[in-house]
Amino acid sequence: MSFLKTEALYKTFKIKKFLIPAVENLNMEIDSTDFFALVGESGSGKSTVVRLILRLIKPDSGKIIFKDKNLWEMSKEDLKLFHQSIGVVFQDPYASLNPRMKVYSIVEEPLKIHKKFTPEETESIINRIFSELGLDKDLLNRYPHQLSGGQRQRVAIARALILEPEILLADEPLSALDISLQASILNQLIQIREKRNLGILLITHDLNIVRAVSNRIGVMHLGRIVEEAETKEIFKEPMHPYTKILINSIPGYHRRDRTKVPQISTEDRNSWILKGCRFYNRCQYRMDICRENIPELKDINGRKVRCFLY
Ligand SMILES: Nc1ncnc2c1ncn2[C@@H]1O[C@H](COP(=O)(O)OP(=O)(O)OP(=O)(O)O)[C@@H](O)[C@H]1O
Ligand code: SF4
Ligand SMILES: [Mg+2]
Repeated sequence: MSFLKTEALYKTFKIKKFLIPAVENLNMEIDSTDFFALVGESGSGKSTVVRLILRLIKPDSGKIIFKDKNLWEMSKEDLKLFHQSIGVVFQDPYASLNPRMKVYSIVEEPLKIHKKFTPEETESIINRIFSELGLDKDLLNRYPHQLSGGQRQRVAIARALILEPEILLADEPLSALDISLQASILNQLIQIREKRNLGILLITHDLNIVRAVSNRIGVMHLGRIVEEAETKEIFKEPMHPYTKILINSIPGYHRRDRTKVPQISTEDRNSWILKGCRFYNRCQYRMDICRENIPELKDINGRKVRCFLY
């Protein structure tokens, strides 16, 4: 039984008359022991994947399967279990922390909704997660605006982990923080992951972070997964031309066979409406076949890649 998977998942947005296939034929499987990183440029559909998995938006078609059950056909009890099993943190903790509630109530709230604990048990659970995240207990009596950015994001993580979920979905959770804070929060997350067997789906632009912490990577480009493999494999030998560009453009990361790096520009609607490969306009390896045909995500030696070069 897989923990969480998507089957042929599609989500299209309509902006005026223009259709954006933000998530197209997504077949992704995440185990509760994975540290899976989903990477890709802005607008590639990463947050849409998270919103679909959290059931915040409905797919046009396809399935999201949580422990063998379809998320959109679940009983109320199973949905409750699903929400207990998945914690979530977003980039902006302001949006997820109620400004009118004190930190204690914010962190306590999921416990009150989902489980029945005595006040003493609740306090000890909160104390434990606060100490794991290096948060001072004095903060429990404050409001979110009285915290620093790093403290706020740690509180958001504490709330996300308070029900001891099996997996944490983290959508750019650290990108608003400075580098030293990012490193210390990541280290705490890694320790918590080991202690609690926590699976993580991390969405980030930062490939240095991905390289340091994840065990698998999915690379997303304009709504499609173009490559998926173990982290060490991807960094050793990126296969898809887009992945090569991403890896070669990491600041301070030098590969011996470094290819020429074309400028990454914000892609316009012309690439979304391409008939074939959506990387065609930027690809230095493009061929005639790529213009008219959509490459399949192929299995190659245990890796997956969507490109006619393979
Ligand atoms: N509610 C919406 N209505 C219309 N279009 C949307 C909506 N949500 C997302 N989109 C579009 O879908 C595409 C994917 O957006 P998404 O937010 O998933 O990208 P992302 O990879 O998370 O980007 P970023 O790295 O900037 O957060 C974008 O072109 C975006 O404009
Ligand atoms: S399918 Fe063709 S255009 Fe697309 S990435 Fe591969 S070689 Fe480049
Ligand atoms: Mg996003």
